[in-house]
Amino acid sequence: MKMLPIKFEPMAMHHAPLLHELYQQTPNYFAVLGNAVPSLQEVGRDLETAFFDRRRRLELMYCGPLLIGSVDYKLDFPEAGDVTINLLLVRGPLQGQGWGPRCVEALERHLPHSRRLLVGVFGERPNMVRFWERQGFVFATDAPPVMTWYAKKLGRRKAI
Ligand SMILES: CC(C)(COP(=O)(O)OP(=O)(O)OC[C@H]1O[C@@H](n2cnc3c(N)ncnc32)[C@H](O)[C@@H]1OP(=O)(O)O)[C@@H](O)C(=O)NCCC(=O)NCCS
Repeated sequence: MKMLPIKFEPMAMHHAPLLHELYQQTPNYFAVLGNAVPSLQEVGRDLETAFFDRRRRLELMYCGPLLIGSVDYKLDFPEAGDVTINLLLVRGPLQGQGWGPRCVEALERHLPHSRRLLVGVFGERPNMVRFWERQGFVFATDAPPVMTWYAKKLGRRKAI
């Protein structure tokens, strides 16, 4: 059976409750960072702050009607042509089923003019390092004591 493509929907303020629901269904991500799941108010404030930054993009990822997760990234950061992924989040109950790799692949096609994707891994998280390495990212730089950066050079891709 042919899989539907992953589609990206830019977020707006009215998406705050949906993003909050997504976070509530993914508590492990926040627990690993030692944080509680943000409240709806906090999610709204974060969105407001993000929308002030013209290079920042927050998008929901869908496969047909199914909400897979969200992605938060910054264009032309740190350098022109780079894209820094702040957060790629697959909805808790959907994790471990291969959606993450499909989302990364779709994101690459969604950003046809970018030449490099970067992502930071907090602390000692070998499973996260494995995940990004499997998507073709390689160690880029250390930002001690808590952050390690991974990057992937992008070739020519067809836009979606
Ligand atoms: C990282 C993330 C995007 C990967 O997406 P995914 O759809 O789970 O990806 P995969 O299906 O390829 O699974 C990745 C690995 O995590 C494991 N995993 C993910 N969720 C799991 C779960 N709920 N229970 C058990 N294992 C899980 C998988 O078994 C796999 O492990 P392996 O590398 O040892 O084989 C997703 O786990 C996520 O949203 N995490 C929280 C946010 C985050 O940390 N994002 C990355 C930093 S930007």
